[in-house]
Amino acid sequence: MKNTREDAEGRADFVVVANRLPVDLERHPDGTTSWKRSPGGLVTALEPILRAKSGAWVGWPGMPDEHVDQFTEDDLVLHPVTLSSQDVEEYYEGFSNDTLWPLYHDVLVPPTYNRTWWGTYSAVNRRFAEEAAGCAAPGATVWIQDYQLQLVPKMLRELRPDLKIGFFLHIPFPPIELFMQLPWRREIIEGMLGADLIGFHLPGGANNFLYLAHRLLEFDTTTTGSGVGSALGQVNVDDRIVKIGAFPISVDSHELEAAAKKDTIVARAHELRRELGNPDKILLGVDRLDYTKGIDLRLEAIKELLDEGRLDAERTVMVQLATPSRERVQHYIDLRSVIEEHVGHINGDHAQIGHPIVHNLYQPVSRDELIALFVAADVMLVTPKRDGMNLVAKEYVACRGDLGGALVLSEFTGAAMELRQSYLVNPHDLDGVKNMIMTVLHQDPESGRNRMSALHRQVMSHDVHKWAHSFLDTLSGSAGSSTDCDPADDEPDLMLTT
Ligand code: ADP
Ligand code: G6P
Repeated sequence: MKNTREDAEGRADFVVVANRLPVDLERHPDGTTSWKRSPGGLVTALEPILRAKSGAWVGWPGMPDEHVDQFTEDDLVLHPVTLSSQDVEEYYEGFSNDTLWPLYHDVLVPPTYNRTWWGTYSAVNRRFAEEAAGCAAPGATVWIQDYQLQLVPKMLRELRPDLKIGFFLHIPFPPIELFMQLPWRREIIEGMLGADLIGFHLPGGANNFLYLAHRLLEFDTTTTGSGVGSALGQVNVDDRIVKIGAFPISVDSHELEAAAKKDTIVARAHELRRELGNPDKILLGVDRLDYTKGIDLRLEAIKELLDEGRLDAERTVMVQLATPSRERVQHYIDLRSVIEEHVGHINGDHAQIGHPIVHNLYQPVSRDELIALFVAADVMLVTPKRDGMNLVAKEYVACRGDLGGALVLSEFTGAAMELRQSYLVNPHDLDGVKNMIMTVLHQDPESGRNRMSALHRQVMSHDVHKWAHSFLDTLSGSAGSSTDCDPADDEPDLMLTT
């Protein structure tokens, strides 16, 4: 159902602002260009929302120095923001992905604090704010996304005080002592406080933010609840109230479940098993190639299990799919080598001719192929060292309406707060991961089905549409009190600060 409209000047009453457009421009060797789906969980989550609710989307087309005119796709008006090569280097690869990304992911690699990058980050944020100000109808709702654009809420409010502004952070909000490292910490909090509602995945992140708004900027803050799916606190900023809440993102569960049941997908899943040599067990990893994802840790676990003879090299196959990501940032270049080395060692030591143990694909695959792999996989390995949510875990569960398969899930993902019936692991504890893989491979089928049934129910009843509604209803002021999707109802032993 399309339920938004444009005014006489073509301005939209619902606008999403994200670093990337939902589609990414690609240049072919013959010089021609085409559009492909943008990588990452943000686009996975927002695309079905925007398909149901037309409007405008402001974002970068994914290639430097490309001037692309505004265009319309499926009732969605796309407003490309041009980034120069220098912007890409300093705002995107630099400040966004070599400063904020590692800082917000527990400093897994050291963040670089570079004053030039900060200047470019501010300048590019201003351009996004100006583009959004130009395409929003009077009184429109503008929903700004993620760590690349944390200054946009304040800048946009200065340009267009009539707008309803929401901001959602798709990655963890870090523990306070880590955030305090950032030389521009005040500016970032001030920037976000330009919104009327600031959303995080988990209550821990929302509470960290409330604390910082009070301690760093000396605003009065109030706690108004403790659950998720509505505001849990507020910040009084001069004459405005900024609501703060936890809204765990999800996937288009019903669409995935239906796709996974299609004859063509089921047939492809059988075919994949045959192509892999009809192993007893297929293990699967699906990630953007990122050092936060723990791909190296899971390969180490597999290698040791094979070396020790605990894993049967003739009966087990692992498929590791990784989408290329941020390929000019050094940590990502290094990671690819580490992974290829691990895969080389495993196959070198344990494979037979024509039967590799680890199939390592460094490329995105189509949606149908991915769903068929989820249906075929006996064990899904999701082992990030830190992840705001991790949609792959939820996609796998949504596709397992047959109640088959098993999910091994890192405690350090946002998803672990909801998917309590998965096989939870601490990815830093290699022996623990190895033992868990062996436990899962020998799980009693009945208890496996019971676990998957509980997980499937959770993901089916908390899909991405519910996530968007709860955020947008809270933003418009029409939300009731906390919804029923409260991970705190099922508190983990270890409370993380995301
Ligand atoms: P992130 O947002 O950090 O990339 P998520 O797990 O939340 O991590 O989302 C990743 C998204 O990208 C998921 O929708 C997943 O299915 C998709 N994806 C990851 N790797 C691949 C791949 N090799 N081919 C196709 N889709 C992929
Ligand atoms: C994560 C981030 C998104 C980002 C995506 C892909 O999901 O939260 O903001 O778009 O990764 O990363 P990229 O750098 O390719 O946009």
